[in-house]
Amino acid sequence: MRISDTSDLWWKTAVIYCLDVQTFMDWNDDGMGDFTGLAERIDYLAELGVTCLWLMPFYPTTDRDDGYDITDYYGVDPRLGSAGDFVEVVRTARDRGMRVIVDLVVNHTSDKHPWFRAARSSKTSPFRDFYVWRDTEPPSTKAEVAFPDREDSIWEHDAKTKEWYLHRFYRTQPDLNITNPRVRDEIVKTMGFWLELGISGFRVDAVPFMIETTGVDQAELDRFPDPHEFLRHLRSFVGRRTGDGILLGEVNVPHREQKLFFGGKNGGELTMQFDFIGMQNLYLSLARQDARPLARALRRRPAISSESQWATFVRNHDELTLDKLSESEREEVFDAFGPEPDMQLYGRGLRRRLPPMLDGDPRRLRMVYSLLFSLPGTPVLFYGEEIGMGENLAIEGRLAVRTPMQWTGQRNGGFSNAPPSRLRRPLTEGSFGPEHVNVASQRSDPESLLAFISMLIKRYRESPELGWADFAVLDQPLRHVLAHECAWDDRRIVAVHNLSPESCTVPLTLHHCDSSYHLLDLLRDSDHLELDDSGRVEVTLDGYGYRWLRLMPRNSRRLA
Ligand code: NOJ
Repeated sequence: MRISDTSDLWWKTAVIYCLDVQTFMDWNDDGMGDFTGLAERIDYLAELGVTCLWLMPFYPTTDRDDGYDITDYYGVDPRLGSAGDFVEVVRTARDRGMRVIVDLVVNHTSDKHPWFRAARSSKTSPFRDFYVWRDTEPPSTKAEVAFPDREDSIWEHDAKTKEWYLHRFYRTQPDLNITNPRVRDEIVKTMGFWLELGISGFRVDAVPFMIETTGVDQAELDRFPDPHEFLRHLRSFVGRRTGDGILLGEVNVPHREQKLFFGGKNGGELTMQFDFIGMQNLYLSLARQDARPLARALRRRPAISSESQWATFVRNHDELTLDKLSESEREEVFDAFGPEPDMQLYGRGLRRRLPPMLDGDPRRLRMVYSLLFSLPGTPVLFYGEEIGMGENLAIEGRLAVRTPMQWTGQRNGGFSNAPPSRLRRPLTEGSFGPEHVNVASQRSDPESLLAFISMLIKRYRESPELGWADFAVLDQPLRHVLAHECAWDDRRIVAVHNLSPESCTVPLTLHHCDSSYHLLDLLRDSDHLELDDSGRVEVTLDGYGYRWLRLMPRNSRRLA
C-alpha cells in the first residue's frame, strides 16, 4: 500500500471537529452564532489541522432539544443564516482541504413538523403512519426513557385522536415510522439534498432507535423484515452519490452489537461509529490511575472491515455518559470527577468538560489528548477542547458544556458584540472563563494547550498507521501504564502513557526487532532510544508522561 492510497479512505486518518454554528462565532452581533461567523473561522480550524467539520443540527427547529427537533429537513435556521451562507461555509472549508459532515436526525421530527401536524390531526391523515401509534394504554416504560428528568414514558397520549405516539426522546420529538416506505424515501431524499450541496456525509443520530421497530404492527413488520438492510441501502446511496461520503453513527451499545451496525466483518452499513465503550473505560482508567479498564475495552473491540473505522473521543455535546459501566465503576468516576449532584445528569453521566474535572492540571490534560490522538481510530474533538474550555454548571442539563466558543479575553469572549443578556447562551465563568482561556492568547504562546494539540494533530496526520493499524496492547508490568503499538504496512508506532503522577521506567520487548532498529521520539525533537539484540528497550516517563515512538531501521531514510 502506498501512502497516497490512504486518502481514498480519508475518514481513517481524519481529524473531526464537532461544532454548533449557534455557539461558534456571531458575525452579525445578534447574540447567536451564524454561518458567516463560521466561514470567518475556517482558517483557524485549518491551521489547527482539522480535516473534517461535523456540524450539529442547523435546521429550522422548535428548539426543545437544541436543534435535534427539526421542523424542516431542507432548510437552514434563519437565525444562523441562509442556505447560501451554508454553501459558502462548505465551499470555504473544501478550499482549505476540509470536508463537512452534518447531523442527520431522522429517528424523529419535531412535533411541529408539518408531517406530525398532519398525522395528529386525524387517524385517516395520509401522514398518520409516518409515526408510530398505539390505541391501547401502554405499560410503564419508565425504565426506557432517555431523559428521565423530564419524561416518564416513551409513549405520549394525544388528545385529539385519543391514541399514544412513540417518542424515544422528549415528547416533542415523535419517532418516525421507519417501516413506512414513504418515510424511508423521505430520508433518502433529504440526504441526497445535502449531499448535492457538497457535504461528505452524515453524523447519524440515535441509529439503534432510528431502525428499531418498537410499536409497529405485524403487517408493517412484514414489509420491513430487516432494518439493517435500510442502513446498507443508505450507505450505498451515499457511496453512489459522492464516491467517498461517510455515515458516522451514534450507536451506544455494547461492542459486540456495534459490529452489526458496521454490517458485520465485511462492513457495508455505517462507515464509522463512536467508541462509547472505549470512552467510558478511559474515564474509569483515569479515575483509578490504572490503564487496565481502557486496555481491556480496546482489546475487546470487535474486528471490523478495513473500510470501517472507530471514532475516538474524550467529550461530546451530550452528558458524558457512563451508562455502560457497572454501578460501582460509575460511582468511582463520579467520585473522582463529578462528586456534586449538580455535576451529574440522569444518574448516568457528567455534565462537565475535561479540564475542570482534572482541576486544570496541564500534565494530565496533555496526557489524555496524547492518548486520544494515538489510540487506534479517528479522533473527534468537540469545539473548545483544543484550548481547554470548561463548562458552566449554571446552565441547565446537557447545555452546560455547550457555551459559546472563547476567542478572546474581551467582552463575551470575542464570540459576539451583542449585549451579554442577548447571547444565545452565557459563557463559562471563573478560572475557565474567556479571560483565562481563549484562542487569541494561546495562539501566540508556544507552551499553550492549543499549540500542544496542534502539534499532536500534525504528528497524528504524519502517522497514518494510527488510523490504519493492527493494534496491540503491549505486555509490561506497570498497571498505571498503557503501552500500545500500531503497526501498518512497514510502519510501527509504540505509544506509552503514564496515568499516574509518579515517574516510572517501562520495560518493553518489541517482537521481531533487534539492535538494528531504534525508536525515534515523535514528540520530542531528536530523542531516540536504542533496542538490544532481543528487541528490549526501557522507556522512561514523567508523572502523567507520554511518548510516541516510531520504530525505524537505523539506516531508514524516513523522517521521524
Ligand atoms: C442524540 C443527540 O446526541 C442528543 O443531543 C439528542 O438530544 C438526541 N440524540 C435526540 O436527537
